[in-house]
Amino acid sequence: MLSYITSALAFASVALAGTPISITPHAQFSSSIGVLGCKINTNRVAYWPMFPGCDSVCVKVQANGRSVHLLQIDSSGGAYDISYDAWNYLYTGQGAAANPTMGGGIPAEWEPAPMSECESLLTAPDKKLPLMAANSINYFVGCPVGSWVRENSSLWNIQTSSCTLGFNEKCHLDLAVSNQPSCAHILGAQNALSGLEVKNIDYGTGAESVAL
Ligand SMILES: *[C@@H]1O[C@H](CO)[C@@H](O)[C@H](O)[C@H]1NC(C)=O
Repeated sequence: MLSYITSALAFASVALAGTPISITPHAQFSSSIGVLGCKINTNRVAYWPMFPGCDSVCVKVQANGRSVHLLQIDSSGGAYDISYDAWNYLYTGQGAAANPTMGGGIPAEWEPAPMSECESLLTAPDKKLPLMAANSINYFVGCPVGSWVRENSSLWNIQTSSCTLGFNEKCHLDLAVSNQPSCAHILGAQNALSGLEVKNIDYGTGAESVAL
């Protein structure tokens, strides 16, 4: 009897590990904290009501017996949006390019996850969170020294999340010297940048289009 109760409780705590939500599809990549879409998997992003934290921006979402890990790098108006491809996969078991589906909210559960579980979503060679040197600095320095974001982000001289302006170069921040990152070219350069296109999967058609 006791072991039955114990295992029932264990089961209940597993079943309640995630917070119930309704997830909706988000077709156009964006990042309010200035993450660069050309250096992450933009098909695995969470747009959550709360502001991204400093210790991990990785979340796990489960629905229909499937699960995805997502980078929570944007805040939404109140909805739980996820990348269209991730939503389509949880809904149908197939990606949005292969089987583009339309629909609204689907019941899901989410929970915070350690950054290590999102490592494959960070595609820069340094495996760090790619931030904009000029525009992400408030978020970056707002995270305490020793936090994951502070220790494991790179600052790039790129000015848009769709990677269309600037230079594809890393900058260095030494707060003892300056509160502005130093880069090989001038910080915040507005020149056109090519070759780092961010592609969205269009809602309903599954076609790819270049993010502006
Ligand atoms: C930074 O990332 C490395 C490699 O994944 C990890 O070992 C380390 O704990 C992280 N640093 C912080 C402060 O979380």
